[in-house]
Amino acid sequence: MRLKLPSFVFAVLVALATAGIAAAGNGGFAPVRPASPNASHTNVAYWVVLGFTTVIFVIVEGLLVAFVIKYRRGKRGREVEGAQVHGHTRLEVIWTVIPVVILCVIGIVVFLELPKIRSAPAAANTIHITVEGHQYYWQFDYPNGARSIGTMHAPVGAVVDLRVVSPDVIHSWWIPALGGKIQAIPGRINHTWFEPTAAGSYQGQCAELCGVFHAAMAATVVAGSESDYRTFVTRTTRQTLGQQEWGGVCATCHGNLGQGGYGPDIASNSLLIQPVALANIVRNGVTGSIGAMPPVGNTWTREQMDALARYVRRNIYKPAAAGATSGG
Ligand code: CUA
Repeated sequence: MRLKLPSFVFAVLVALATAGIAAAGNGGFAPVRPASPNASHTNVAYWVVLGFTTVIFVIVEGLLVAFVIKYRRGKRGREVEGAQVHGHTRLEVIWTVIPVVILCVIGIVVFLELPKIRSAPAAANTIHITVEGHQYYWQFDYPNGARSIGTMHAPVGAVVDLRVVSPDVIHSWWIPALGGKIQAIPGRINHTWFEPTAAGSYQGQCAELCGVFHAAMAATVVAGSESDYRTFVTRTTRQTLGQQEWGGVCATCHGNLGQGGYGPDIASNSLLIQPVALANIVRNGVTGSIGAMPPVGNTWTREQMDALARYVRRNIYKPAAAGATSGG
């Protein structure tokens, strides 16, 4: 009876642990389902390592619990020594050789997968896109000169070569389904790539603590047909540029309607209808005693400034009611 209780407790603990893992699924325990060859190779390495470590964990913890039970003191007096055990050479050789073999196998698998993770396959349909990390948004430059913010579009089946840069602090580009992380470092150009294997919308997140809105620095890659991609880079980006800038950059601090949040309420600020002053503040930022605004648009083009000015004039600016006193 005394033996049964600990075994039962152990069985319950194992069941709870594995149930938690199974329930977590892709939401936590397992990597997301890969949608690019480099992500698939990363997952192979992950599962191989996990397979070995799971088996080792179960054996080691199982033996530990079994020995705790088998060699417990029981009725032996407190002052009486337990069984005296001497070394066992063959056993020691075995538990040295087996881990060496396991580490070699893991090493071989990882080094076989690594080149396929790191290097993009040579392909005639390679698209080069520049990824610029900013506090606190991602900006994308396409080969035809189009720009988008927050959401990148790419055709399924094309190899997309990413040139990852940052004008301010270190960020980290990470779309888990489309491969590993790569840092965006000021003064450096890093490269990574992906090749979407299925249409879909893939979510990612800046993976390097970069300031107060690091957690809000999300990114999405939309993979679709070649014609969807063409439409996006020739038409959609231009038509929605102002909206992308407001939603992906200004709204982070000032709220979706300019009502204020971390940054002040600017909905009725007349700067919104003064394009030159607006461009100046967005490009250069403000430093002042009441707070600071970073130069969020220091790499923005004239076209982007015009798009923002048009968008805020039409959609955000709400003149203060006549006679209302200014909050200052
Ligand atoms: Cu950018 Cu964290």
